[in-house]
Formats: sequence, C-alpha cells, structure tokens
Amino acid sequence: MSEDVDRSRRHFLGVATGVAGAAGAAFAVYPFLASWKPSARAQALGAPVEVDISRLEPGELVKVEWRGKPVWVLNRTEDMMGYAEKARAEDLLRDPDSEAPQQPEYAANETRSIRPDILVVVGSCTHLGCSPTERFEVAPADLGPDWFGGFFCPCHGSKFDLAGRVYKGVPAPLNLAVPPHRYVNDDVILIGADSGVA
Ligand code: FES
Repeated sequence: MSEDVDRSRRHFLGVATGVAGAAGAAFAVYPFLASWKPSARAQALGAPVEVDISRLEPGELVKVEWRGKPVWVLNRTEDMMGYAEKARAEDLLRDPDSEAPQQPEYAANETRSIRPDILVVVGSCTHLGCSPTERFEVAPADLGPDWFGGFFCPCHGSKFDLAGRVYKGVPAPLNLAVPPHRYVNDDVILIGADSGVA
C-alpha cells in the first residue's frame, strides 16, 4: 500500500516537473523571440538601418534617416574623389586629416570612408545643425573659384568638401560626422552598426 502511494506520488511529481519544464521552456523561448524582433520604439531609438546601394549611380546621393538624423550616402565619381583631394592639397580645409573625433577609426583616412568611392556622413551642419545642400558643381559664381564641389550650409555659409571636411573661415567648427557603419555585402551598408557596435 505504502509502495502504491509512493509510486503515485512519484508519478504526480513526474507530471508536475514535466509541466513546469514545458512552461519554463515556453518562458525561456518567448523573451528570445521578443528581443529578436526590435520594437518600433527600439527602432526609433537607434536600430541600424540598411541602405541598398546597388542602384546608386556614380555622382548620386541617397538620404536615409537613422536615430532621427539625416544620413547621406554619396557614390563619388573619380572626378569627385580628385576634387576632394584637391581641396585637401590646397590647404582649404580646417581639419584635412580628420584629427577631430568626427568619424570611426576606419574612416579617419584620406577619403573619410571604408570604400574610397562611397561617402557616408550625417547631413547635419556642425555649426547649429542646419541641413547643408549638395553643390557638386566646381567654381560656381556664388561659391567662388576655390569651390571644388561639396555641401554648402545656407544658414550661415559653412562649406564642406566632398569628403564632408569643413573649409577654413566658416562658422562650422568640425567636419561632418561619419556614423558607425559597415558593409553587409558589396551592395548593402548597415548604418548604425559596425564590428564594435551591436
Ligand atoms: S548651421 Fe550651418 S552654418 Fe550655421
């Protein structure tokens, strides 16, 4: 008799443990799924943004939004890369070697980019945050003979070259920021995530 009781008790414990195990497994899975899919709030706060550049023609600029900021991706032509180098070589720039921490280390180079042709910058003037306009023509009448193409801020006249480097003698103190980013493959850039950022 006591053996029967023990056996049924063992059976109950076995069932109870099994139910608890299944429930535990369900609870263990749910948070994983919940964290795997970022909420709209998390996305607004800074989830990375993918940019497909497969159809971005040479000389073309695409604008996306990341963390509420405008991010520009420019496919620079050979000529554009040459003009950016010229602005640097002619000593027109305040921080030609990107010494201020306005970019990740992998963009602190002559083109301020991972790929020489593709520029990725935050399109927000480093003076008071206006949005510069793209002015890719060389030496237009209103910008003068020292203009090699770049971004012009209409608010107070700051100028940035085709690598987002600020000209000397303008109100903006710093180069345009380069956000963290990486290439998922040749055609897709992930803005807001690099090897050091989740
Ligand atoms: S905000 Fe761009 S120059 Fe002042």
